[in-house]
Order: sequence, then C-alpha cells, then structure tokens
Amino acid sequence: MVLKRVILNNFRNIDSADICFSDGMNIICGRNAQGKTNILEGIYIFACGKSFRKTKFKDMVKFGSDNCSLRVLFSDSKRENDMKINISESKRETVLNSIKITKLSDFMGHFRAVLFFPEHLSIVKNEPSVRRNFLDNAISQLKPQYMVAINDYAKIVTEKNSLIKNCEQYFDFDNLFSVLSERMAKYSGYITSERIKYSRLLFDKVSSFLTDMTGGKEQVSYSYVSNALKGQNDIENASQIEKCYYEEMMNNKQRELSAQTSIYGCHRDDVEIMLDGTSAKMFASQGQQRSIALAMKLAEGSICVEQTGDNPVFLLDDVLSELDRERKDYILSKIKDRQVIITSCDESDFAGIDNVKKIYCSNGTYSER
Ligand SMILES: Nc1ncnc2c1ncn2[C@@H]1O[C@H](COP(=O)(O)OP(=O)(O)O)[C@@H](O)[C@H]1O
Ligand SMILES: [Mg+2]
Repeated sequence: MVLKRVILNNFRNIDSADICFSDGMNIICGRNAQGKTNILEGIYIFACGKSFRKTKFKDMVKFGSDNCSLRVLFSDSKRENDMKINISESKRETVLNSIKITKLSDFMGHFRAVLFFPEHLSIVKNEPSVRRNFLDNAISQLKPQYMVAINDYAKIVTEKNSLIKNCEQYFDFDNLFSVLSERMAKYSGYITSERIKYSRLLFDKVSSFLTDMTGGKEQVSYSYVSNALKGQNDIENASQIEKCYYEEMMNNKQRELSAQTSIYGCHRDDVEIMLDGTSAKMFASQGQQRSIALAMKLAEGSICVEQTGDNPVFLLDDVLSELDRERKDYILSKIKDRQVIITSCDESDFAGIDNVKKIYCSNGTYSER
C-alpha cells in the first residue's frame, strides 16, 4: 500500500495542505506545535475511523471554521483509491472512490497503517486501556465488523452503567439487568475471542523480533487477563467465552451494584506481558520494555501484510528521538523498504540515511523547500 497524497482543508491548525509522499521514507520536520502530528492524525483517521487523540470529529475542525475536509489518495495491490471525509457541526460525510459510504464497516479496511506514538513506548507499563486500544485498532483494520462491535459494545456499557446507577428508578430492574448483561456478554465473547486469537499471532512474532533485536535469550509471553475467564485464557471459542462473562455478571450483580458500575466485560480486560515468565510491567528494565514495544509494532505490521497481502503505511510520531542508537537503527532497518512517514523536531536523526523525502512544517504549512 502506498499513500501518494494527502489533502487537508481547515483541519486543526491547517488552512490548506496538499502533500505528496514518496513510497519510501518521508520525514516531516519542524519545531513544536507547528502541525506535524496533525498530519499523521489526518492520515490515521482513514485507517481507524477516528482520531488517535480520542477527540471528537468536530474538534478537529479549524477554530473559527464551519467545516473541514480530509482526502487521501493511495494505491493497494488491487487499485488506486481516493477516500474523503467532510466534517461539519451537523454531519459527517465519507466517500470512497466516488461512492458515498454510510456504514463504518464499509469505511474501514481499505487504508491500513501502523501508528507508533510516544505513548506506545510505555505500552508494557501503561494502564490496560492502552493495550486494549492497541489490539482493538490492529484488529479493526483487518476486520471492519470488529470496530463496529467495539462501538456498539461501548454504548451498551454506558446503558448498563446508567441502569446500575439508577437501579431504584426501574421497576423491572432485574429483567433489564439480565437483558443488558446478556448483550454485553455476547459482544464480550466475540471481542475477547478476537483479541485472544490476535494476541497469539502477535506474541509469536514479538518473540522473533525481540530475539533478532537483542540477540538475547529472554522469552516473551502474554496472558489475556479477564475477571470472567479466571485464567482460562486459551479459550478462543466466542460462545464459550460469552457464557463465562454472562455467568460472572449474573453471579456478581450485588458487586456491580455496590461498585455502581459494570465490572464484568471485555472493557475491563488486559493483556499482561511477561519476560522469562515474570511480569514485564513490574520487573523489566525501561530498555527491555521499549524493545517489547518496538517488537509489538513491527509484529502488527507483519500480521497486516500476511493477512491482507498489502504492506501497511508506518506512521512514526516523534518516537525516534526517544530511542537509543541501537533501537533506532533496528526499527529503521526493519522498515526501510516500506513506506514510512516520520515526524521529528530534529533533522539530524536522519543523518546518513539515503533517499529520505523531507517535508518542512511551519505553522500549519508544508513545503519541500
Ligand atoms: N481545531 C483546531 N484548530 C486550530 N488549531 C488547532 C486545533 N486543534 C489543534 N490545533 C493546534 O495545532 C497545534 C498542534 O499541532 P501538532 O500537530 O500537535 O504539533 P507538532 O508539530 O508539535 O506535532 C497547536 O498549536 C494547536 O493549538
Ligand atoms: Mg507532535
């Protein structure tokens, strides 16, 4: 997959930008707060259907404007593609190759990218939501219906939380509690089953990358942690998993009522990462944790190629300056034959690397100078 061009209007601090990329390494350089990450955000929306900054679509419209538009032109192994999003206060319109798209599932799965964001460097020790998001974004790009399930599930969690908080207002509380628990368990069964299957593939590759990177003998492993599965984290059958969640929800109604929130379901799950059998979060050094993070991103890219036949575009936001020489050289050596778009404040990060297309960013404008 090659991203050829991105065209943005009234997006964040950008009035209008039209940037062409090479099919190799591209760097966007400039001082802080000039609009480097904004470009990656504008691109990654086409891969994930939302902003990686967790902001709403309308907040991405340039202050003082009524609407904004984003467009990417890219090729994959089958065709040339043209995708657009128009955002205004009242509506959002998306178009793929001149055809209007109304369903998120039709929007997803065309443009694919691996995003490496500074927060990912501490993925091993960060809170569980960062690891869940990693899995959810990666799986969604391969299975558009997964993203739809994640969104639908989030709505049911909100509904059940509101029911629990206001339980005395509902004369048929018990019935509603079981209906919502049943729906949550069904989605949790599917989502957890996909996460477990993906984690198995992912950590197989993480192990190989890690051995290759460090030459070390440490064994990386993982465990899908869910309060409903109670350690049976190798079940991959969605309906079996669904049953476990439902039973826990129904057996622990009182606990959820005391906690005033739903505590059983895949929105509370985690993936624990281990090095030589001990928790990497607690015992691995910062360097080891970062090596695992790099390996996870590279593994995400490999799975994407294997399952779709297309290389994803690698988007690296300000991560190189955070890495020591060895890790930086390693990741660059692994992605040098791919299309990569990297943002950086420091051009010297790329000294000695050939065939780099440089794009200079200043106050929301971009030039090749
Ligand atoms: N909706 C918006 N309208 C106008 N400017 C915005 C909007 N959202 C963010 N910005 C501005 O974008 C700039 C940050 O851009 P960013 O791409 O994160 O910078 P960096 O070059 O450091 O990566 C900030 O100056 C911020 O105020
Ligand atoms: Mg930035």
